[in-house]
Amino acid sequence: MKQLSHSVFYNGILNPAMRVFDVIMRTEYGTSYNSYVVKGSEKTAIIEAAHLRFAESYKEELEEALGEEKPSYLILNHTEPDHTGAVAKLADWFPEITVVCSQAASIYIKNITNMPDLNIRVVRDGDTISLGDKTLRFINAPFLHWPDSMFTWLEEERFLFSCDFLGAHYCEPGVMDTKIAYPDAYWDAMKYYYACIFGPFGPYVKNGLEKISGLDIAMVCPSHGPALTPGVQLERVIDYYKRQSAPKQSPMLIPLFYCTAYGNTKKIAEAVAEGIRNVFPKASVAAYNIIEHGMEELGRLLNASDAFLIGALTINRDAVPPIWQLLSHIDAVNIAKRPAALFGSFGWSGEAFPHVAGRLASLKCKVFDKQFKLNFVPSEKDLENAAAFGEEFARSL
Ligand code: FEO
Repeated sequence: MKQLSHSVFYNGILNPAMRVFDVIMRTEYGTSYNSYVVKGSEKTAIIEAAHLRFAESYKEELEEALGEEKPSYLILNHTEPDHTGAVAKLADWFPEITVVCSQAASIYIKNITNMPDLNIRVVRDGDTISLGDKTLRFINAPFLHWPDSMFTWLEEERFLFSCDFLGAHYCEPGVMDTKIAYPDAYWDAMKYYYACIFGPFGPYVKNGLEKISGLDIAMVCPSHGPALTPGVQLERVIDYYKRQSAPKQSPMLIPLFYCTAYGNTKKIAEAVAEGIRNVFPKASVAAYNIIEHGMEELGRLLNASDAFLIGALTINRDAVPPIWQLLSHIDAVNIAKRPAALFGSFGWSGEAFPHVAGRLASLKCKVFDKQFKLNFVPSEKDLENAAAFGEEFARSL
């Protein structure tokens, strides 16, 4: 337990050993599940709970932070189970407690706790709860990063409890940005966290920043990573969010991703790319052999693209695993209507084409109705046709 101010106590869980979060995120600097106790003159609130796995140590931290106080409220800024897994237990420890959350969260939390009789108070944008001499005001923050997300503003202390927003999977015992011993590592973790968690929600990030722009913030208390303060990391992190969420002014980006067993699909990729460049000479058009690059790098490129192409290699009647791995990095929230096309050489059959096209269609990509495919080795004429295919796809954009 750490005291952050006269009325705010930190009772989060540190997990420095964590290396993978939610199956897909690497967490080389561990993480923390932040939770806070706010004590008013009349009532006490807990902000955020914890992962179920840490319920017992969370209880110890919580009891120490609470001291003699009994909590009246549990504020849930969103309901992802890394913060709400222990809510059912918490409701057992404090049967009188009222869970405070958004309308969407009120539905999710019943299904997470399987407690239909949980005391819930739904709050809307601008609603307040008084703790006596302290006031909690709630700020809707949809899709930052769940539909049910909100922020909680402690008016008198000027603390913003920002849910995952402005957070990081980063763990140091000091809890505050003033105590960070390895600032470069923190910055690396913060940027990666932004890319994974908030990258798909640029317009919502912009809205969230606008909503908090008028607040004279003394401290941001996120649900993961260090608390941020003015003059230390706060302005720098907010500026990073602003830059990352601003609309891009870069040239048109059309990457081609392929796998190739004997170099045939590689030749086709280069010819198709040449055709695209003929139509868009200023566009950024490049062909990437998937196995020669990091999957996260290629995933970011695909997600940032204006259109993309897949050179689909078939082995064992299916697309090869690197292609499926790349497609698993697609930001499904924002990929809808993205133009995509398929090309490549095949040996016996070529089942990768319908399988990959089906996957892209299910993600609601705008899949080009023509595919450029040929059997085995492309001739000079075939490569001319591949370039013509690239031109045709480019003109369809
Ligand atoms: Fe850290 Fe979205 O939960």
